[in-house]
Amino acid sequence: MAPHHLITSHRIAAANATIDADARHFSITNTLKLDTRAELDALERSLLAPAASIAPKFFYDVLGSTLYNAIVLTPEYYPTRTEAAIFEQFRDDIAAVIGTGKQFVDLGSGDSVKAEKWFASLRPSRYVAVDISATALTEALSRLAGNADAPELAGLITDFSRVLDVTPVLAPQPSLFFYPGSSIGNFLPDEALWFLKQIRAHCHGHGCGLLIGVDAKKDSARLDAAYDDALGVTAAFNLNALRHVNALLGTDFDVRDWLHRGFYNPALGRIEMHVEARREVNVKVRGHTRRFAAGERIHTENSYKFTPHEFRALLVEAGFEDTRLWQDTRGDFSVFYATA
Ligand code: AVI
Repeated sequence: MAPHHLITSHRIAAANATIDADARHFSITNTLKLDTRAELDALERSLLAPAASIAPKFFYDVLGSTLYNAIVLTPEYYPTRTEAAIFEQFRDDIAAVIGTGKQFVDLGSGDSVKAEKWFASLRPSRYVAVDISATALTEALSRLAGNADAPELAGLITDFSRVLDVTPVLAPQPSLFFYPGSSIGNFLPDEALWFLKQIRAHCHGHGCGLLIGVDAKKDSARLDAAYDDALGVTAAFNLNALRHVNALLGTDFDVRDWLHRGFYNPALGRIEMHVEARREVNVKVRGHTRRFAAGERIHTENSYKFTPHEFRALLVEAGFEDTRLWQDTRGDFSVFYATA
């Protein structure tokens, strides 16, 4: 399921709601503060800046989310299927380390399918779905509520990429935080550390931990291919951001004037995605005209990769003390369980 980052195209449900699904109740709390004007002003500034950029949250309109779901099916994009294979192979082992009966806090829950696979082995006391998309979260919890074996359910609609505060929905029980998919790699290093520190700050007392999926550094050619697949699905996903920006800001990007660039930058240990002007292009950005020289790029995303050693050090710096690691045989992807 595609991550839901974009706040400008979500319809938000009533502030806080208790929903009845098949006679089971769950509550949804909404702490999302929408400021569409500020978001669009920031987007304008980022396009007019000398080194232009578009924040990755602008990938995820309806078409972009659909293209992301297609990316994970391409043969070149290994992270999603490798993480799933690690979870399948080591589920019992991981569950034995974590222990049963905890409150399962799913950060970026989307359709909740990844989390649900843990219910049988972890037998959580509660399931707390946290997502920016009210629609995805409500649909997922309604579906789970139809399952008589599901734990107690709660939801929080919030944008945790800014500040993580799940205290309004936490019960005073040990929590397992779940952050799969290597989404941690889409933060800048300082932001990733800050995010992990905020999770750590939610841990009080014994039994709290974080189960997290992290993509590993590897051969550049494989990384390049994963972000520039032969079918051009990632290219369409990247270029679609321009169409989305047109719809939001009234700019007049012509997708045909731009090329997809997705490549590993070994010096910075990250994938970079850009769109690159095929020729000189003039784009109307509100009252301005932004001239892009031929070959000039707009930076759209970073995806940091971590050796197990590097990521363990980050967890320790964030205040986690004990870490366990599971990997696939090639060492392509890492799953860590870190405790406070
Ligand atoms: C959501 N995130 C973990 C993906 C990644 O691999 O960084 C986003 C993505 N961008 C291009 N392909 C996938």
